[in-house]
Amino acid sequence: MESKNLDHPPLIALLRKAYSAERAASFAYIGHAGSLKDPEEKAHVKQIELDEWNHRDEVLKILQTYKIPVSRWYEWKFYAIGKFIGLSCYVIGRFMPYFFAGKLESGNVCEYFVMMQYFQSLGIHDHDEALYEMGVKEKEHEIHFQKSIENEPWLPLFEKIFGWGKDKALNDVDLDALLKVDESASYCASRRTLTTLPVKDDAEGNIDPEN
Ligand SMILES: [Fe+2]
Ligand SMILES: [Fe+2]
Repeated sequence: MESKNLDHPPLIALLRKAYSAERAASFAYIGHAGSLKDPEEKAHVKQIELDEWNHRDEVLKILQTYKIPVSRWYEWKFYAIGKFIGLSCYVIGRFMPYFFAGKLESGNVCEYFVMMQYFQSLGIHDHDEALYEMGVKEKEHEIHFQKSIENEPWLPLFEKIFGWGKDKALNDVDLDALLKVDESASYCASRRTLTTLPVKDDAEGNIDPEN
């Protein structure tokens, strides 16, 4: 492993994946905003795109702090995914881009809380605020998308099939009863277990938790 300073492979894998996935999200939102007609909706999705670019910058700062290299594999993979989703927004109507963006955001919320908790398990609290704020921001994105489609007739069926919607979320964060930074270690306990699965180093030192 390249980093001599951060001895936590699942955390390193999460950081590298998040860095690349944030760009995919930004690309997807460029397409999403471009496909919308309502100026207010367009502007809101544009702001979310900017938030994702900011997240990528924040994650890069953390990667650089520990001399963790960006994953070339993730950069290519998420570049392609982001561009594909961005283009698809022009052909799949209004509902699906909102729905799948909301579901994706719902999953992303815990990514940042889990990273924060992994750092804390190493006794590192330098990134608490930044990671907490990113997790909360993803929650705000999720709620925006949820509200944008809450009255759509397709939502109940999609919620049943894909497990996200008006009543189901992929995280336990509640914006109306938000825990403070130093209380937020209780968030996302189930996701923490999932992301502690062993990860594998490839020949180039790129860590892929999916392998
Ligand atoms: Fe983000
Ligand atoms: Fe987001």
